[in-house]
Amino acid sequence: MSEKLALVTGASRGIGKACALELAKAGYDIIINYVGNAEAAEKTVQEIKALGVDAAAYKFDVSNKEEVDKSIAEIVEKYGRIDVLVNNAGITRDGLFMRMSDENWNAVINTNLSSAFFVSQPVVKIMMKQRSGAIVNMASVVGVSGNAGQANYSAAKAGLIGLTKTLAKELGSRGIRVNAVAPGFINTDMTKDLDTSKFTDFIPLKRLGEPEDIAKAVKFLAVDAEYVTGQVLEVDGGLII
Ligand code: NAI
Repeated sequence: MSEKLALVTGASRGIGKACALELAKAGYDIIINYVGNAEAAEKTVQEIKALGVDAAAYKFDVSNKEEVDKSIAEIVEKYGRIDVLVNNAGITRDGLFMRMSDENWNAVINTNLSSAFFVSQPVVKIMMKQRSGAIVNMASVVGVSGNAGQANYSAAKAGLIGLTKTLAKELGSRGIRVNAVAPGFINTDMTKDLDTSKFTDFIPLKRLGEPEDIAKAVKFLAVDAEYVTGQVLEVDGGLII
């Protein structure tokens, strides 16, 4: 066991998995959270362990406060500390605002925004006792710029940015830093059904991002950026300059 532990939500695949691997490379023991695919979660755990740190997977729905509380209590009981939290889990339910169902609004707000409230509260409790910790929230460029067809998602991501800045102000004196990463278009399951070829024209770096591009920024904010808090780092190839 190393001395430091990182918890990454929604980490059995995509950006969350890349973040978990990057933090493992930095020497952190890793807890990955997943909600559906136990097989993928176990595979990720094995990949992390192969890097020489400890890893475990906890199944819970980040939008369900009871499940979150129970799992975080178990993690704290077993490991005694949480040094880094990456609030990464998220979903999209796209559609034009005037046609958006209550169900799609609530699902996206609960999974992408309320989840960060549910997960961060018990984690901050242990970080306050440690008098140290770092939280990175996975926002999105659309939380900064808005996006037609994503009223629910951009509202949730903008909310995450407000939460990030507020927690940075509330928790800085306790040695806890809180930042956000705002990815642009990243090659994952979330974007696999989009015709992304047309987007590259608008991206100064002329390519989509890879999960590892985001993971490096998350690791920078979580581990290296010791005098940085309350910031939103856009990792988008220049998309919304
Ligand atoms: P993904 O769909 O591959 O990963 C999302 C992960 O969250 C999955 O593992 C999923 O099982 C998990 N998840 C969903 N609902 C959950 C719940 N209720 N409880 C626990 N886990 C849950 O997509 P991707 O791209 O890796 O997304 C990761 C984060 O990055 C999300 O917050 C997404 O909004 C954000 N993002 C992604 C962008 C992209 O272009 N792919 C752009 C901007 C932000």
